[in-house]
Amino acid sequence: MAFDEMDVDTIWMDGEFLDWEDATIHVLTHALHYGTGIFEGVRCYETDTGPAIFRWDAHLDRFYESAKPYELDIPYDPEELTEATVELIRREELSSCYIRPIAFYGYKRLGLNPSEGPPRTAIAVWPWGTYLGEDALEQGVDVGVSSWRKYSSSQIPTSSKTTGAYVNSVLASLEARRHGYVEAIVLNDEGNVAEGPGENLFLVRDGEIFTTGLAEGILDGITRRSVIQVARDLGYTVHDEATISRGELYTADELFFTGTAAEGTPIRSVDDTAVGERTRGPVTEDVQSRFFEILETQPDEYADWFVPV
Ligand SMILES: Cc1ncc(COP(=O)(O)O)c(C=O)c1O
Repeated sequence: MAFDEMDVDTIWMDGEFLDWEDATIHVLTHALHYGTGIFEGVRCYETDTGPAIFRWDAHLDRFYESAKPYELDIPYDPEELTEATVELIRREELSSCYIRPIAFYGYKRLGLNPSEGPPRTAIAVWPWGTYLGEDALEQGVDVGVSSWRKYSSSQIPTSSKTTGAYVNSVLASLEARRHGYVEAIVLNDEGNVAEGPGENLFLVRDGEIFTTGLAEGILDGITRRSVIQVARDLGYTVHDEATISRGELYTADELFFTGTAAEGTPIRSVDDTAVGERTRGPVTEDVQSRFFEILETQPDEYADWFVPV
């Protein structure tokens, strides 16, 4: 997950390409104090025909939608953000990378109402490998159910990638690692499964696939949507509005995470209880390998998932 900023020397900020060290903000920036920012995480993959951004349009849609509840007007249109991103990747000559667009309230006067603060927008790109460890995609990861609950959508909009709300994910991640796990599973207020700190969750039982529904307070993950489609195209039955109880985690045949960072990562144990054979299960492997094949080869039926750089 670590990256070396020396690998990259340009950041796009408020309409300009800046040197990495010049892309800075004032210490009284509204978003720093109150978390009033929204962001995206996107991957650009090396493909047979050069670098291509995966599901850029869907990520951009979510970027603007995330901003809406906060009345944050992003002063750039999707074409301008696309142009800036493509130009950054070209300048850095990256064959694959992670893309981090962010928009937030800047500094004018510090007070809870952000409306006077100028909207700020930035995009950074950098090389990025696997998120949960090199072996994770094949061997699976050990996870623990967090004692922190996911906030509900009556508290913070769960469909918005709000910077401040990520303290919830940070707490769950810290706790998981403190207990020796690679990642957490976070329950919602009702005590049912929500998701991971930065991943959606899928469960396999008797050959059918279940994933927690949006009403469980999850982020509407773009990898989740993609994997649902890939699995259905492979002929699997996918229940995408499932409620999954905590107990079902321990008796599942297979579990896996999806996310831009985690891609498709098998879960081999929950709270030290083995999931299936304590390794990647056959359905997970099938869906995962088709997903990676699509990323690499961009078959015609998924062509609209890719924006060439
Ligand atoms: C809380 C949370 N859930 C799920 C996801 C997965 O979403 P996506 O597949 O769009 O990256 C993320 C990552 O953005 C996340 O932060």
